[in-house]
Amino acid sequence: MIVIDNLTKKYKNITAVDNLNLEIKKGEFFGLLGPNGAGKTTLIKMLSTLTKPTSGTIMIDDIYMDRNKTKVKSKIGVVSQHINLEWELSAIQNLQLHGKLFGMQKDYMQKRIDELLKYIDLYDRKDEKVKNFSGGMKRKLMIARALLHEPEVLLLDEPTVGLDASVRRKLWDLMKGLNKDGMTVILTTHYIEEAEVLCNRVGFFNNGKLVALDTPKKLIEKSGQFVMECFDEGQTKTLFFENREDALKKATSINSSVNIRQSNLEDTFIMLTNRRMGE
Ligand SMILES: Nc1ncnc2c1ncn2[C@@H]1O[C@H](COP(=O)(O)OP(=O)(O)O)[C@@H](O)[C@H]1O
Ligand SMILES: [Mg+2]
Repeated sequence: MIVIDNLTKKYKNITAVDNLNLEIKKGEFFGLLGPNGAGKTTLIKMLSTLTKPTSGTIMIDDIYMDRNKTKVKSKIGVVSQHINLEWELSAIQNLQLHGKLFGMQKDYMQKRIDELLKYIDLYDRKDEKVKNFSGGMKRKLMIARALLHEPEVLLLDEPTVGLDASVRRKLWDLMKGLNKDGMTVILTTHYIEEAEVLCNRVGFFNNGKLVALDTPKKLIEKSGQFVMECFDEGQTKTLFFENREDALKKATSINSSVNIRQSNLEDTFIMLTNRRMGE
C-alpha cells in the first residue's frame, strides 16, 4: 500500500534520508527503529506530506504523493513526535478543530469524536482543557485526533517518549488494538522493546539508511541466539553464538568474568551498526 522509491532528503550538507527503498503492506505494523538523528522524523514528515523529498517518490495506494496531496492526506493520520495540541482548548475542541480542517460533516464528526473519546478512555474528561492533561492523556488524544478522519495508515513518531513504563504499556495496547482492527501502522521508536513487542516487521535505520529489514525474530537470529559479554579491564566485549554450548566452551577459555544470555534485537542492532540506541 505504501511504496517508497529512492527517497532522499538533504538539509544543506546533511543527508537525513539516504536513497531509501521500502514497501509497507496493508495491515502491517511496521517499526522503524533507530537512534536519535537517524532520520526517522524526516521520513515521517515526508510520508505525511509535511516535508518535500529532495529526490525519489512515495506512492500510497497507487497515488503519487506529490500529484494528489489532498487525497493522500485523507488516507493518513499522523501523531507527530512533539505534542502539538491546542493547550487552551478542551479535548473535544481539539478534535473538532481537526475535523473542520478535514471538512468533516458536523453530525458525523461529532458521532466519531464521541466514539473515539470513549475508545481512548477520555470521554469523562472531554470538556477539560488539554493543558491539565498528563503526558499519556495528551498522546492518546493525539492518536484519537489522527484517527478522526478515518485514515488508512497511522504514522506514529516516537509516541511513547518520556512516558513512564505503565503508561507506555497502555499505549502499546491501544496501538495493538488499532492494528488488530485493520489499521496499517508505521511507528518510529528508539525503544527496542517497543519494536520487538509491537511490530510484524522492523527496519533498522541508521544515518538515513536501512541497515536491516525483517521480522523481529529473524533479526534476532542474525546475531546468533546467544550472547556472551566479557567484562575485561573496564571494557565490555560482546560475542555472538548459535547455541549455549558454544558460548560456554568459549567462556571456559576466558579469564575475565562473563555473562551469557539469549540475544535480543538490541544485540543485532549493535552488531550491524556498532551503535547503541542511546547514542
Ligand atoms: N529542518 C532541519 N534542518 C536541518 N537539519 C535537519 C532538519 N531536520 C532534521 N535535520 C537533521 O537531519 C538528521 C535526521 O534528523 P531526524 O529526522 O530528526 O532524526 P530522528 O527523528 O531519527 O532523530 C539529523 O542530523 C538532524 O540534525
Ligand atoms: Mg525524531
